[in-house]
Amino acid sequence: MSCNKLKVICFSPTRTTRRILDAIAEGVGSEHLEIIDVTRADRVPEACDCADNDLVIIGAPVYSGRIPLTAVERFKALKSSGTPVVPVVVYGNRAYEDALIELTDLATEAGFSPVAGAAFIGEHSFSTDKTPIAVSRPDEDDLGKARDFGKSIAAKLAEGTLSSVEVPGDRPYKDRSPKASASPISNDNCQLCGACERVCPTAAISVGSLVETDPDKCIFCCACVKVCAFEARKLEVPRLLEVSQWLSDNFSARREPEVFI
Ligand SMILES: Cc1cc2nc3c(=O)[nH]c(=O)nc-3n(C[C@H](O)[C@H](O)[C@H](O)COP(=O)(O)O)c2cc1C
Repeated sequence: MSCNKLKVICFSPTRTTRRILDAIAEGVGSEHLEIIDVTRADRVPEACDCADNDLVIIGAPVYSGRIPLTAVERFKALKSSGTPVVPVVVYGNRAYEDALIELTDLATEAGFSPVAGAAFIGEHSFSTDKTPIAVSRPDEDDLGKARDFGKSIAAKLAEGTLSSVEVPGDRPYKDRSPKASASPISNDNCQLCGACERVCPTAAISVGSLVETDPDKCIFCCACVKVCAFEARKLEVPRLLEVSQWLSDNFSARREPEVFI
C-alpha cells in the first residue's frame, strides 16, 4: 500500500516540531501533502476526517514529560477509522518521558493505527545566550535522520506490513506540572510591532500602545521571546530562570533522535 494523501498535523510554537515533521514528510515523498498546523487557535479545523489509505504524521513538543494540554485540546477534532499514523514528539534534550506514549494513545483513541513513532530533539524553548540548551537543534544531522525515517515509513507502507508499534513511556502518565500564573514581559526595546501577538498560540498577548499579556493564558512556550527581532521579550520568571540554569548545567550532552518502526 502506498499513501493517497499525506497529512501533517502539528502544534509547534517555536517551529522545531514543524521542521522535523516537514523533513519526515519530505522523506515519505507523497505527491498530495496537506499541512494542518493547529499552533494558532484560528487554524484548528472543525473536523479532520482521514481515509484508510491516507497517512498522518502528528507532532507536538514535550512539556514536562507530557504533551501540552493546548495541543491535546486542538487535536480533539481528529477522527479516523484505521488511518495509519506516525506520532512524533520533539523535546529539548532533557527527556520525553510519557509524551510519546500519550500522543500515541491519543491518536489510537481517535481511531488511528500507529505504524511508527519517534522522539526528536529541538532547541529548548527556555534556551538563551546565558543558558544555552540544545542550541540550533534540529540541525542538518537531525533533519537527515528525519528524512531517513520518512523513507522507512514509506517502505513499510509499500510492503503492506502495517504492524502496530510499541513506544516507550508509562501509564498512568506522570502528573502535569501545576501551571504558574506568569508570562514573559516586554522591555523598553519593544517597538510595538505586534510579532509577539501574532505568534502566541493561546492569544495571551495584545499589542496596542503597550504590550499586555494575560498570565493565566500564557503556556511559557516562548514563541514570543524567540520571534522578537528587538530582543525586547524576556522570560524573567524567577522559578523558570532557575529551571533554565539547571537544564543548561545538566543536559548539555547531546541526545540523539529515537525512531520506532
Ligand atoms: C513549558 C515547557 C516545558 C518543557 N518541558 C520539557 C521536558 O520535559 N523535556 C524536554 O526535554 N524539553 C522540554 N521542553 C522543551 C521543548 O520540548 C522543546 O524546546 C521543543 O523543541 C519545543 O517545540 P516547538 O519548537 O515545536 O515549540 C519544554 C518546553 C516548555 C515551553
